[in-house]
Amino acid sequence: MYSYTQEQLDSIKKVEATRQERLSNLHRRMTAEEKDEVLKNYHPDYIESAYETLKVGPNKGEKVLHELANLLQGNTRLDPAKIDLSKIDYDVDVLVIGGGGAGSSAAITAHANGANVMIVTKLRIGDANSMMAEGGIQAADKPNDSPAQHYLDAFGGGHFAAKPCLLEKLVKEAPDAIRWLSDLGVMFDKTADGEMVTTHGGGTSRKRMHACKDYSGAEIMRTLRDEVINRNIPVVDFTAAIEIIKDENGNAAGAVLQNMETGEILIARAKTVIIATGGAGRIHYQGFPTSNHYGATADGLVLAYRAGAKLLYADTLQYHPTGAAEPTQIYGALVTEKVRSLGAQLVNKNGEPFVYSLETRDVTASTIIRECKGRSNGVKTTDGEGVWLDTPMIEIIGGEGTIEKRIPAMMRMFGKYGIDIRKEPILIYPTLHYQNGGIDIDADGQTTLVKNLYVAGEAVGGIHGRNRLMGNSLLDIIVFGRNAGKFASQKCKEVTVGALTLSHVDNFKEELKEAGVDTGVLSPQLLPNYRRGDL
Ligand code: FUM
Repeated sequence: MYSYTQEQLDSIKKVEATRQERLSNLHRRMTAEEKDEVLKNYHPDYIESAYETLKVGPNKGEKVLHELANLLQGNTRLDPAKIDLSKIDYDVDVLVIGGGGAGSSAAITAHANGANVMIVTKLRIGDANSMMAEGGIQAADKPNDSPAQHYLDAFGGGHFAAKPCLLEKLVKEAPDAIRWLSDLGVMFDKTADGEMVTTHGGGTSRKRMHACKDYSGAEIMRTLRDEVINRNIPVVDFTAAIEIIKDENGNAAGAVLQNMETGEILIARAKTVIIATGGAGRIHYQGFPTSNHYGATADGLVLAYRAGAKLLYADTLQYHPTGAAEPTQIYGALVTEKVRSLGAQLVNKNGEPFVYSLETRDVTASTIIRECKGRSNGVKTTDGEGVWLDTPMIEIIGGEGTIEKRIPAMMRMFGKYGIDIRKEPILIYPTLHYQNGGIDIDADGQTTLVKNLYVAGEAVGGIHGRNRLMGNSLLDIIVFGRNAGKFASQKCKEVTVGALTLSHVDNFKEELKEAGVDTGVLSPQLLPNYRRGDL
């Protein structure tokens, strides 16, 4: 048994007391006006003091969070004058930067197209947010559903801001992405007669979430990693890309790499480059805890920005409504939305429901923050406060054994600390989960301003607009990973790389000087900064 405080124990009794009533009486959905109101007043994206205006680069004049401004306008890790670009360590057709789901899908596809492809990753292949994804992957492949329906859900959920050509590709290619993964060996949950089990996510009008229990990302990443290994695609691990190299024509033509252990600098020349570096949770924007992998430090955005690529919606982040708020050892860890899909409800310290459980993520997160900060209805926790996610309802609704069968990872994560989620509710609070914005690309995955530079996965901006629905990220790493692999490998057949240069890095440095910007920060950041302030 976990050692809850007396206040928490008293609150649990109130949650139990309202359970019967809540079973038959679901909280109503919010109106559009109510959603706008709660977002404006409580979503962290609306805290103006957290933002500043960029003074240099392709997005000059636009607002981003202070932490990202420091990185985008940071100082390069290298001295271009000391880099010998004539000494080529790796010479490939397609260079993939990042070893998560998007990078692996891109590399597999480029390799299948006959390209000489190499993956470089600052950690190891599979050390990525993809591996940590839990709830599932969306695809409209049931008779009552369609890509058009999927498009409408995602477009509305993203506040009508998604780039239409990207969202169209995402939903249209989703069924094929599921087939591709199945053929590679992903073991999706199926009924006894072989039909895919699908559930709802927040903001979905049809059950289209395909899952592998709540280990969906781990199962997908396991399969992709096996395929990369089986194809003998070279993977250079513990090696970070620290600048994009261009050629004399201004096109992307490789990257300067740095060995994470020895500091050795290596030069990779490539006909096309794919950035698949993932997200940014480990930047801990606005002091939020995160559900993200250790390597999620926005590196791709910095690399692309300094090379002259434009960012889209870099001002918007996703705070997943349900990060673990207690125990402190797992503060910020993801509690999958699937918990709510299966029937768990969000309730405050008095046991009162305050939101329909499957509103879209930004709205749900905002109502939780309002409950805690605006209405004093939160429960005190070791690290702050939270509200209850009433997990025992899952067993009441779905029958005994549902939790162990459908969300065993959640049961184990809390079980380690003596919390049996089948019998007790859990405390949650929003956690930094996803980078909605990123690098601007066209439908072929190429950046809009720098030729031969492609992007896939969480480093892309605009696929989901200003808020993403559950399960569309595992989907986008596959769809846009394959897309980038396909077009980058096609393109390299017609590319002749000119003389290599890092003049853009010098120019950026000059721009910073002229604008009087000195953040004192080295970027890309590469690893989170958890050093004690006094060291
Ligand atoms: O809640 C979740 O399982 C997260 C899924 C996602 O971000 O797509």
